[in-house]
Amino acid sequence: MNHIAIKEASNYVKSKLKETPEIGLILGSGLGVLGEEIENPITIAYKDIPHFPESTVSGHKGQLVIGTLEGKQVIAMQGRFHYYEGYSMNQVTFPVRVMKDLGIESIIVTNAAGGINEEFNPGDLMLITDHINNMGDNPLIGKNDEDLGVRFPDMSQSYDREFIKHAESCAASLGIFVQKGVYVGNTGPAYETPAEVRMLRTLGGDAVGMSTVPEVVVSRHAGIRVLGISCISNMAAGILDQPLTHDEVIETTEKVKTNFLQFVKKIVSTLPA
Ligand code: 6GU
Repeated sequence: MNHIAIKEASNYVKSKLKETPEIGLILGSGLGVLGEEIENPITIAYKDIPHFPESTVSGHKGQLVIGTLEGKQVIAMQGRFHYYEGYSMNQVTFPVRVMKDLGIESIIVTNAAGGINEEFNPGDLMLITDHINNMGDNPLIGKNDEDLGVRFPDMSQSYDREFIKHAESCAASLGIFVQKGVYVGNTGPAYETPAEVRMLRTLGGDAVGMSTVPEVVVSRHAGIRVLGISCISNMAAGILDQPLTHDEVIETTEKVKTNFLQFVKKIVSTLPA
């Protein structure tokens, strides 16, 4: 990962800011609306930031929104970069490096995911307790830059236990039901076959998506504390007798939006430092 590129991107963003962001937010498919709740927002299009790739998928915007959310300084990515778009792992995770350089200490990563666990229902929110990197790649491959993190980062507690507890108590206080489980990161862009879904269930997966794992690996490398939330937008293939469509993903996240917004705002307002 190129130091100079990180600095150039970070300096550009910094030049537009008055305050240091504390919490990073990566907003998944259909969940970018949270960015609209940020007060006194400064928005920066990805295409204007040096070395930033550009987002391409519908349902994903391509900008940073920086400002105040529930009294906290946040920096949100409205739209993220996916491996299946053809970006390298380095490109996918570049914004995390930049957010780290800007001063964030915690990150809330969100995504839409397919339910593998048959107890789940479309519309459920799931706190990610752990992940399975099934992408066949890792953003840390290559020469390690010791200034960014260690060669062999520990992944035994990647999803911060205190953050999970905190999120559970926020959910309880709002009367929002949340699941917990293991997120499997696949490359996509094809959804899984029913046989693959059965395999992933046997391997211990509860939900499957096409993002999050690279960003979390780099966050842990950088020493950023992570909270991960999946919106179960649909059941994975072979569970219900119906085909999967991206429209269903967007429709469900649309329905869950109100709860999701309330939930994340509550989490942010009292996130442990
Ligand atoms: Cl079923 N699979 C994957 N890989 N990503 C998804 C999904 C399924 N549903 C939403 N995102």
